Amino acid sequence: MGQHFTLTVNGKTHAIEIDDPDMPLLYALRDDLKLNNPRFGCGLGQCGACTVHIDGRPAFSCITPVSAVGDAKITTLAGLGTPENPHPIQKAWLEEQVSQCAYCINGWIMTSAALLAENPHPTDREIKEALSPLVCRCGTHGAAMRAVRRAAQAV
Ligand code: FES
Ligand code: FES
Repeated sequence: MGQHFTLTVNGKTHAIEIDDPDMPLLYALRDDLKLNNPRFGCGLGQCGACTVHIDGRPAFSCITPVSAVGDAKITTLAGLGTPENPHPIQKAWLEEQVSQCAYCINGWIMTSAALLAENPHPTDREIKEALSPLVCRCGTHGAAMRAVRRAAQAV
């Protein structure tokens, strides 16, 4: 018999039943709720591919147990914007053609969006600091910087 949890994700509540309350939030989002924007990269809190917002703050969902979420509001990339009405950082990502393979893109966009929500006009140093936990094997770091600067002019 599993344990029951209620997760609030992108404005909707979801009841889930899981066997292990220490199961990573990432697995609940991907496997139970079928929200596949957060990616499994390292599973160790070392790459950021799994980033979501928990009460507006970026968090690595691969190392966040479901039992630690409580009543917090979770936002995934799917809740940030829509194709018709993208978040400024999503628009800037496309305009700067940042993505290569795009495996990491979820983490970069979610982290950048959280930064701009807290600090709408960050300095280059602040952008680098915010993005420093993230890994991109394709080396898109320079383009990502340009996209955050561009989005900062739009928010
Ligand atoms: S998959 Fe979570 S930090 Fe790498
Ligand atoms: S675009 Fe390929 S890992 Fe970042």
